[in-house]
Amino acid sequence: MTASRPKLFVKSYGCQMNVYDADRMADALAPDGYVAADSAEDADVIVLNTCHIREKASEKVYSELGRIRKMKAETGRSPVVAVAGCVAQAEGAEILRRAPVVDLVVGPQSYQRLPELLRQAKAGARPVDTEFAVEDKFERLAAPTPKAIRGRGVTAFVTVQEGCDKFCTFCVVPYTRGAEASRPVAQIVAETERLVAAGVREVTLLGQNVDAYHGEGPDGRDWSLARLLYELAEIPGLARLRYTTSHPRDMADDLIAAHRDLGKLMPYLHLPVQSGSDRILAAMNRRHTAADYLRLVDRIRAARPDLALSGDFIVGFPGETDADFEATLAIAREAGYASAFTFKYSPRPGTPAAERAAQVDEAVKTERLLRLQALISEQQASFARSLVGRPMEVLLDRPGRHAGQIAGRSPYLQPVQLVAPGAEVGDVIEAVITDVGPNSLFAAPAGDARGSTALLAETAI
Ligand code: SAH
Ligand code: SF4
Ligand code: F3S
Repeated sequence: MTASRPKLFVKSYGCQMNVYDADRMADALAPDGYVAADSAEDADVIVLNTCHIREKASEKVYSELGRIRKMKAETGRSPVVAVAGCVAQAEGAEILRRAPVVDLVVGPQSYQRLPELLRQAKAGARPVDTEFAVEDKFERLAAPTPKAIRGRGVTAFVTVQEGCDKFCTFCVVPYTRGAEASRPVAQIVAETERLVAAGVREVTLLGQNVDAYHGEGPDGRDWSLARLLYELAEIPGLARLRYTTSHPRDMADDLIAAHRDLGKLMPYLHLPVQSGSDRILAAMNRRHTAADYLRLVDRIRAARPDLALSGDFIVGFPGETDADFEATLAIAREAGYASAFTFKYSPRPGTPAAERAAQVDEAVKTERLLRLQALISEQQASFARSLVGRPMEVLLDRPGRHAGQIAGRSPYLQPVQLVAPGAEVGDVIEAVITDVGPNSLFAAPAGDARGSTALLAETAI
């Protein structure tokens, strides 16, 4: 029945905002009849939703375009090829020059115009739209249908804030996503209610600087992220809330208090520090010291003792000495991470740090990265081991790997495997962690509403 309907394939790179945007692009094209393609090979429209954050990420788009060109030549098919996301924003028409296979370039602020841009591309126009639109993109983007929401699972992202005014000296985001802008509270509440009505149990609020959120409230005043979280926590059926990514400078007192007050707010916080050296933090324009960060972490943990941290680190920022790097290892040890992303500094065009003379040797970057990664892996494993024997709530989000198993996520986003007869995807069950595998935790239901007490005894032994 759907054979004649046009097929869309969106391939996303980069952060969760791109994952959210990919769904919104699909929603924007659904009214024109588009359905999801299984692969680029059978798509009528291919969208590469790109990331510009590091050189490797941004070069991926050109290798992928090379593959598409070959596929077109081999199959004789001629899908419309669009480049979206942060490389589209950063490079604009340059992409059309460098890659003749591209029919359309669209930046993240213009996805509401995608249906029209596609019509132009099909007519042979090769449009480029990287305007920072004055209209409200979110107001104009089509909402997902209940069926589309159900197809995406029981967890969902909701972008609440976009852009960044921080201008860390290594980072392209302020250029690719523009100035900070927050969506109004009512719009976010309505979107979340729609998701929950279609079965979503966990919502992660997204923003490049999510804790700087200051959207218009129903009372006409600016609301903080904390106030938004208290409001969303009232939605019946919504079991879990998360938010990411936070900047240490914007962790306000009311947000810390929300971690104390809101049971639905998961005790897991992504709070990047980047470096433990005050000299490097200043050169990065992070505008806080290592001691400020550690004090902040102490205050958050005092509000929510079971909170675990994740973070981002950059090694080999220009001018980073051995002593600076030792300070990074020291802050990681001191703060203690349940998980963290570690990156080698990558010079990005147009950013101040890329112009600095004191670039760090690639071999030194690699060695530092490996040392930091070893420390983080050790912390991650020891955090997972510390959970054994502890009861915790698990949100069941997919069938398990083996018959009878079901899988879910811990409050700390770790995958959890368990046997829980009668339990269904979407349930939140109380479970006890029994064992730690390389990539997931194993658990048994803690004897609950579904009467699996006997099973707990069986599997926990
Ligand atoms: N807004 C978030 C981070 C967004 S980018 C924050 O301020 O923390 C995600 C991560 O990519 C950053 O935290 C940083 O660790 C890393 N990153 C950004 N630019 C980079 C670059 N030029 N080289 C290496 N890593 C980079
Ligand atoms: Fe980039 Fe985050 Fe810094 Fe903004 S706060 S410039 S997104 S690293
Ligand atoms: Fe990449 Fe853009 Fe996200 S540069 S990390 S996709 S905001």
